Amino acid sequence: MTATRTPPPAEARATATAQRRYNRQAALFDLSEAAVEPLFGRWRRRLWGNIPAGSRVLEIGVGTGKNMRCYPPSVSVVAVDFSPRMLSRAIRRARKGRVHVQLAMMDAQALALADASFDVVVATFVFCSVPDPVLGLQEVRRVLRPDGRILLLEHVRSRLPVLGRLMDWLNPISVRLQGYNINRDTVGNVAEAGLAVRRADNLLLDIFKLIDGAPAAGRGAG
Ligand SMILES: C[S@@+](CC[C@H](N)C(=O)[O-])C[C@H]1O[C@@H](n2cnc3c(N)ncnc32)[C@H](O)[C@@H]1O
Repeated sequence: MTATRTPPPAEARATATAQRRYNRQAALFDLSEAAVEPLFGRWRRRLWGNIPAGSRVLEIGVGTGKNMRCYPPSVSVVAVDFSPRMLSRAIRRARKGRVHVQLAMMDAQALALADASFDVVVATFVFCSVPDPVLGLQEVRRVLRPDGRILLLEHVRSRLPVLGRLMDWLNPISVRLQGYNINRDTVGNVAEAGLAVRRADNLLLDIFKLIDGAPAAGRGAG
């Protein structure tokens, strides 16, 4: 079965706004992250290094395709994004690098993909932007095989009181300018979506995390 629900108007509006924000910044996206990419690149390699050979992988929010250089040759990847302008850059990158990947425009909150059809779902810096992250993560749970795995690289709200409050205060500016929230509890959202959090490793302070999860026992709950 694939997701077919029609989103309520408020959800559709929030998704359209988020999509527009990423379309707007697509041309300068790689440049805007150039300074941090050496660090992010190390984390990307660590994440992709966890994926067993032969896996069928779904990458959500592929963006301009920065993870492509880390795809292990032995896996098959379907990669999706809801922003046509980000996606067209990913298509260009895949062609240029001769990367074997199936790219499609798709909303994480309504994946047009069959139940239990992937071994691993990957997303890097995405669930900070998905308008309804729990809905998106429930979709991840649906498309994962029962013995599958979700691997996320995310920045989250700091648990340090002063820093956390500062992030809350700055969040509306970040959303408006860059399209992403800086104060989400993504580890909590993974659990709320009915996935089991196996590990959440701190990569930098308590803000950048590598989250390793799996469909919780008793699919269909939560
Ligand atoms: C900060 S960028 C990260 C891109 C890429 N994963 C990376 O690591 O460079 C977030 C990406 O998630 C995509 N995105 C956000 N919400 C989405 C949704 N609901 N469905 C699909 N893609 C989404 C955006 O279009 C954007 O390309």
